[in-house]
Amino acid sequence: MSTNVLIIPGSVRLGSYNRKLAGEAMRLISVTDAVVSRVDLSDYPLPIYDGDFEAEGGVPQNAQLLAQRIAAQDALLIVSPEYNASIPPLLKNAIDWASRVRKVDERPVQPFKGLVVGLASASPGRFGGLRGLEAIRIVMRALGADVITQQCLLPTAAEGFDADGRLTDDVARASLESLCDKLLDTARSLTRHG
Ligand SMILES: Cc1cc2nc3c(=O)[nH]c(=O)nc-3n(C[C@H](O)[C@H](O)[C@H](O)COP(=O)(O)O)c2cc1C
Repeated sequence: MSTNVLIIPGSVRLGSYNRKLAGEAMRLISVTDAVVSRVDLSDYPLPIYDGDFEAEGGVPQNAQLLAQRIAAQDALLIVSPEYNASIPPLLKNAIDWASRVRKVDERPVQPFKGLVVGLASASPGRFGGLRGLEAIRIVMRALGADVITQQCLLPTAAEGFDADGRLTDDVARASLESLCDKLLDTARSLTRHG
């Protein structure tokens, strides 16, 4: 059975470094035997989480669709910037809403439970989004995901890509390739979907 991998960039900004890095990961994984796809969080617009909103109207359909999409994967690669040393609100809000989904089509779902998760970050700064990934790691673990230790950091990302959005540095490319390999190897060795 093929391994399904989803890539979620934590930024929807036009020209986002993290979207470019996600594009590179997509290219690397697409030449393997895994089935890789990518979501843009702007395709799943969601209100800022509010318990009263949920109590009155339930979990929005976009959160259900996102949770369903995540639940169908063996592995998830999150490629996200850090905002003030933590998770950007767009990504955190999407995760929070998806974590509120309990059932899809009357069947129980836990979208992140047992999911193999890899993390990558690009930043124009010197640390490459390291602290943001630590924050995402804590959240993913709390939701029962199996977050691999290996991660990919791209500092000084403004100089990291050529005009076609390709990584210019061989070391950065090798780091991303190694992360993708480890993500796939781990997902293949675990049997999330039996
Ligand atoms: C509110 C805010 C906080 C930020 N905090 C950090 C930070 O803590 N560390 C960092 O490296 N970059 C920080 N940045 C800069 C982002 O890394 C930069 O805007 C980056 O380009 C965003 O990712 P993107 O290119 O994928 O959209 C921050 C940006 C914003 C808007």
